[in-house]
Amino acid sequence: MPEPVDFVVVANRLPVDLVTDPDGGQRWQASPGGLVSAVAPALAGRRAAWVGWPGVPDAEPEPFTDDTVGDDVTLTAVALTADEIAAHYEGAANATLWPLYHDLVATPVYDRDWWETHRAVNRRFADAAATVAAEGATVWVQDYQLQLVPRMLREQRPDLRIGFFLHIPFPPVELFRQLPWRREVVDGLLGADLVGFHTPGGAANFRWLAERLCGAEVDDAPIALRSATGEVHLDGRTTHVGAFPISIDSAAFARRGADPATAERAHALRRELGDPTTLLLGVDRLDYTKGIEVRLDALGELFDAGRLDPADTVFVQVATPSRERVDAYRRTRDRVERTVGRINGDHAGIGRPAIHYVHRSLPPDELAALYLAADVALVTPLRDGMNLVAKEYVATRTDDSGDLVLSEFTGAAEELTAARLVNPHDLDGVAAAIADAVAGLGSEGSRRRMAELSAQVAEHDVAAWAEAFLAALGAPPA
Ligand code: ADP
Ligand code: G6P
Repeated sequence: MPEPVDFVVVANRLPVDLVTDPDGGQRWQASPGGLVSAVAPALAGRRAAWVGWPGVPDAEPEPFTDDTVGDDVTLTAVALTADEIAAHYEGAANATLWPLYHDLVATPVYDRDWWETHRAVNRRFADAAATVAAEGATVWVQDYQLQLVPRMLREQRPDLRIGFFLHIPFPPVELFRQLPWRREVVDGLLGADLVGFHTPGGAANFRWLAERLCGAEVDDAPIALRSATGEVHLDGRTTHVGAFPISIDSAAFARRGADPATAERAHALRRELGDPTTLLLGVDRLDYTKGIEVRLDALGELFDAGRLDPADTVFVQVATPSRERVDAYRRTRDRVERTVGRINGDHAGIGRPAIHYVHRSLPPDELAALYLAADVALVTPLRDGMNLVAKEYVATRTDDSGDLVLSEFTGAAEELTAARLVNPHDLDGVAAAIADAVAGLGSEGSRRRMAELSAQVAEHDVAAWAEAFLAALGAPPA
């Protein structure tokens, strides 16, 4: 058992997943999603432990290290059985909380057995964190899968400084009140010293619920981005609530974007795609919240109406497989693939698809080349806590070219106000924004907006996010 440490991250997943190759060999591979993309660089310079699930049933490796987060971070696995994965991860986390917190884009399922397992699994994570945390350590709990952990950890380790950050949206109070275990969740979070959200609105909703559901005393101070927090007082303790919009390692993306090898690969990619006049790009986990169908439908209509010409316009959609055993995800994949097939059937030339659909993860270099190659990024979620892809696209392009069509219903839209903001429920509006972005490429206006977007992302990077959160938590610096 390694020495206890002063800084512990607790997340449902480890930053790496255990994968088994067809020849039976096993290896670790970077886990999907924005949480890992953001929290991994935020650990730079700290001796830390990361407690999480290795992504497959029953895996319980000894504590280990991996290049993704470096030798100073010990990865400590929490083993989950296949039944626990079904009830806690696919059930309570991703068929109950995920759709409830994303504005009911899918219908949440409220299942008492799932919740019981969810509670037991949260306890296992709390126990694991308590084991690796030194006296007085800072423990930073991540995301909606582990909202019960702060209270469970506080009960056994009152000496710890506990922070919690929610990476997804916190819902409007009217929706949250549907949750049969609503009081337990709010009370679970109130075990933390600081609860962070992406937006002031989410933090204010949580504070209101703490008063109504748990009888806490709360202040009514305005909650401002990255600084002013609100207070919730319960049972002689104070929990601060604040807004800390997450970000990316902007300089690393800019470096990759400025690397001649990336530019070369970007040119090669455009050649492989038939040298289109305009290249449009979408990059997402294949999730129903991401609005992949919205952009496909809008593009289909633009092709149908002759407003974009499929002979010189190509759309690349890269979609990482995600949560494939959850029904709503299977149905989304079916719909997306059917729509891609229909639009290509209607508009592709022989050997020249209008839409290139890639259903897998790409390595970082290839992703950067795509960001550089693409004239317009289409980011159209129906609801998204932040959306890092929007920031990655902007940060990679260091010459102010390109354009970003961005849904209003993302956390990113509150910061990236110079993007072409769209309501993803308004198909005409999305189609018009795509057409305008294409028509305006290279114009003074689009350059000015891209410059503004780059400056925003360069200033507010992931290091600043972690620093602001940990300063508000009162954690010692790295
Ligand atoms: P979410 O956290 O919901 O998946 P974000 O946009 O915030 O959404 O973060 C997604 C992260 O996953 C980004 O860092 C992005 O680069 C990465 N990603 C998404 N799709 C792919 C893909 N197909 N290949 C490689 N990385 C991807
Ligand atoms: C989002 C969530 C993360 C999650 C990631 C990938 O970023 O906020 O908590 O880890 O998606 O999803 P998965 O279900 O594969 O862990």
